[in-house]
Amino acid sequence: MPAAGSGTRFGSEHNKLFATLAGKPLWFRSAERLASSALVGRIVMPVSDTDHAAFENEFSDLVAELRIEIVRGGDQRYDSVWAGIQAIGDDPQVRWIAVHDAARPLVSEADLAAVFATASQSGSAILASPVPGTIRREIRISGQTARTETVDRRDLYVALTPQVFDAGVLRNAYQKHNGRPATDDAELVERIGHAVAIVRGSADNLKITYPEDLAVAEAIFARQTKKHD
Ligand code: CTP
Ligand code: MG
Repeated sequence: MPAAGSGTRFGSEHNKLFATLAGKPLWFRSAERLASSALVGRIVMPVSDTDHAAFENEFSDLVAELRIEIVRGGDQRYDSVWAGIQAIGDDPQVRWIAVHDAARPLVSEADLAAVFATASQSGSAILASPVPGTIRREIRISGQTARTETVDRRDLYVALTPQVFDAGVLRNAYQKHNGRPATDDAELVERIGHAVAIVRGSADNLKITYPEDLAVAEAIFARQTKKHD
């Protein structure tokens, strides 16, 4: 569960993951969803050098409560994920690795179960939600916008997490990674020749990116937890 970013777009003094959702830090809410699933055996959380002391001190009780293993992340998200994969090692007991953004505290149990189920059949699966709005593409000629056109959105999805992979395949994909940027883990796995299945997930599973996302997240969290009362 990579948590080693700094939250530049969120614009707060500390990592955005320290902001609270229903009274607990975002990273804790995300880990809580994983920890409460019977499908998850270990949670490894890469954190930045800047935040390491906070996780060891202020947050040590919360870290211990969910038995989270803290490791050092890196400059880019893929450096952090790679650090997590290396911390897991090649333990033969670990068949599957799920990569889940610490900035996605709203993933549902049903979506977790669905993405794990598909991964266990096909080897790799990610949650994704259909693109909700109309997408326009700019057509440029010699760097100048010549015209724009509507893209057929019926085949388009927004990639979410968790992204779940056979542990050996994911390790291999990261080992072969040559530094060429990738937007997500699925792209790295595809580069080494494995198909990645899409599992339709709820758009509620949003990533906290901007401060205004928090109010939406609070509303979704309240709705989700009310249902379970
Ligand atoms: N992440 C990470 N290591 C990095 C960069 C990002 O572990 N070097 C993590 C973030 O902590 C987050 C997830 O990857 O849980 C998704 O990244 P994003 O939402 O982009 O978070 P930040 O990179 O922190 O935000 P920003 O891009 O606005 O700086
Ligand atoms: Mg980022």
